[in-house]
Amino acid sequence: MNHFLDIHTTDPADLRQMIDHARTMKVARQGRPKGTPDDDQPLSGRMVALIFEKPSTRTRVSFDVGVRQMGGETMVLSGTDMQLGHGETIADTARVLSRYVDLIMIRTFEEQTLLDMAEHASVPVINGLTNRTHPCQIMADIMTFEEHNGPIKGRKVVWSGDGNNVFASFAHAAPQFGFDLTFTGPAPLDPEPALHGGITIERDPFKAVEGADLVVTDTWVSMHDPQSARERRHNQLRGYQVNEALMARAKPDALFMHCLPAHRDDEVTSAVMDGPHSVVFDEAENRLHAQKSIMRWCLGV
Ligand code: CP
Ligand code: NVA
Repeated sequence: MNHFLDIHTTDPADLRQMIDHARTMKVARQGRPKGTPDDDQPLSGRMVALIFEKPSTRTRVSFDVGVRQMGGETMVLSGTDMQLGHGETIADTARVLSRYVDLIMIRTFEEQTLLDMAEHASVPVINGLTNRTHPCQIMADIMTFEEHNGPIKGRKVVWSGDGNNVFASFAHAAPQFGFDLTFTGPAPLDPEPALHGGITIERDPFKAVEGADLVVTDTWVSMHDPQSARERRHNQLRGYQVNEALMARAKPDALFMHCLPAHRDDEVTSAVMDGPHSVVFDEAENRLHAQKSIMRWCLGV
């Protein structure tokens, strides 16, 4: 049974195959209305639980639509409405849900919740974001990069901003896909030390983006961060905003990515979001295709 918990714990050949398969599936249904079923219906008869302990637009809708296109059914569950939010253990929840559904996707706070779910479920579990990682997002991002600018292997990816969960999954992906990753941000918001080995840290954002093939940023305050940190973080991160002056220092054909939701004119200017380098809405679309491929890999269908 294949859980999809993290990029660094998944076989690189499997990761490659998932991206390539996602591309094939996307091309196969190009031009069709969104609700048209895929020809092969690989999830026919399968039930998928989508659990959210945090808000979501993209993850929620893309998983739901993806399952339906593949012929399966979904139930979207809010953590607070489940007994899980009222004292039932994650292990018992995992055992119970495994009697009803064929696949579980969970977005949660602590990584341990995801790991406990995977340990005690007898069906595959997919990580839909934790405080620490967001692997489905990075699979979509790699797919998006390669659609626009070819193989990501050997390319330079620069992250500007907070060393958060989305960055961590980029750091996990770098050795698996063979790209170079530079982090630029203030020292107090560095990624966790365990990630420092495989990355370059450069405090000067303008130096960092020189020669970049891809520039990425994310919100300055994540869902798990205390709102009280907001003002301090804005002061710390202001100099790391992705704007036209910063993008001008990257390669002329560099791409700009953001997992969204974006806070326009905080971490990225509207000029960049809506400008020629930006592929943010392709990224959002590719969540759908990448996750369909991930679900098929999990279920072996
Ligand atoms: N990028 C992303 O995961 O978006 P949502 O929070 O809307 O799911
Ligand atoms: N870093 C953000 C990503 C949202 C998709 C958060 O965790 O809130």
